[in-house]
Amino acid sequence: MKKIAVVVGARPQFIKLAPLVEVLSDKVDLLLVHTGQHYDFEMSDIFFDQLNLPKIDYHLGVGSAGQSTQTGKMMVGLEEVFRKESPDMVVVIGDTNSTLAGTLAAAQNFIPLTHIEAGLRSKNNHMPEQINRIVADRLSDILCCPTEGSVSNLKAEGQTSGIFLTGDILYDLVARINPSDEFTDSILKKYDLAKGEYIFMTTHRAENVDNPDYLKSLVLGLKKIKQKIFLPLHPRTEKNLKRSQLYETITDLPGIQISKPIGIVESLALTKSSLGVITDSGGLQREAAYFGKRAYILRDETEWQELSQYGAVICIDSNLDKKSLAWDSAVVPSEYFKSASKNIADAIFSMA
Ligand code: UD1
Repeated sequence: MKKIAVVVGARPQFIKLAPLVEVLSDKVDLLLVHTGQHYDFEMSDIFFDQLNLPKIDYHLGVGSAGQSTQTGKMMVGLEEVFRKESPDMVVVIGDTNSTLAGTLAAAQNFIPLTHIEAGLRSKNNHMPEQINRIVADRLSDILCCPTEGSVSNLKAEGQTSGIFLTGDILYDLVARINPSDEFTDSILKKYDLAKGEYIFMTTHRAENVDNPDYLKSLVLGLKKIKQKIFLPLHPRTEKNLKRSQLYETITDLPGIQISKPIGIVESLALTKSSLGVITDSGGLQREAAYFGKRAYILRDETEWQELSQYGAVICIDSNLDKKSLAWDSAVVPSEYFKSASKNIADAIFSMA
């Protein structure tokens, strides 16, 4: 049996691990490596519990640090694991520092590499995620592209081999979890929210929340929103709000309900029942589209061009200054949400 090491470390990767494990675990010797990039219960263990994920084989416990320090520490740990275990392939997911470290450690140890969520691009090289994606794509042997646009991006960059249009693995997870009405009602009750009467909001992108001007503008923008807003706070956002002395201001705003980061099943239930979404998350905009909810994106661009073309995601400024945010439903053709995990397994087996 071939040995495949999957490197994860951040919240969005744990989520995508669930459908991946399902298609790979019977067929390969699966080695799970957690870098420790995310470590709080709400940022890591909650997903393993909720999604019933298998036990991690190696936990590197790297924790938070500057981009290069964090990536370097992960690489040291990964190299040790790869030398000890000699996997036949390494799989990395998405665009975090854990993705970058897994990529570089695999490439330097001459281990074939698969990148899930390949080919996504923004025009912003000041986003760490953009740097991470470009490196991961350049060094991968198997490129699992979620969208036609991501295939085109790779081709435009001169990539000629290893490209597979697999679909977006996030939708395998969303379809599997799709919360029942009963469960959704219990979550609405827990957070004291009424169906269709609140906006689900998140913001955590470093290029946004590390900038005090963005936070100030957002607070002013939020004052203009009439509907109730449910806002689970990423630890980076909470720290920056406190540093900018805006934490009390935001928590005191009438109509804003702040919570700790929430698990994936709660997040899907609250997306499904919301009026719509305001976010800078790559995952939440796609989940909103699945449930027919409009997502306003707190960025100048989105990597999910198809969703933008369908009108399901719309970019807005942090001052939320669109004359009126329209909350009509977003209609994306159902074939956009097709299952990806089997295609990803086939792509991996074409080489492993
Ligand atoms: C990372 C990813 C981002 C992804 C996001 C999902 C990179 C470059 N960015 O950003 O693409 O959308 O994860 O959440 O990899 N912290 C805690 N507890 C934790 C983890 C982090 O308090 O469990 C705090 C620390 O102060 C840390 C900060 O959050 O410095 C940022 O964490 P980090 O892992 O550097 O990046 P994210 O902002 O989470």
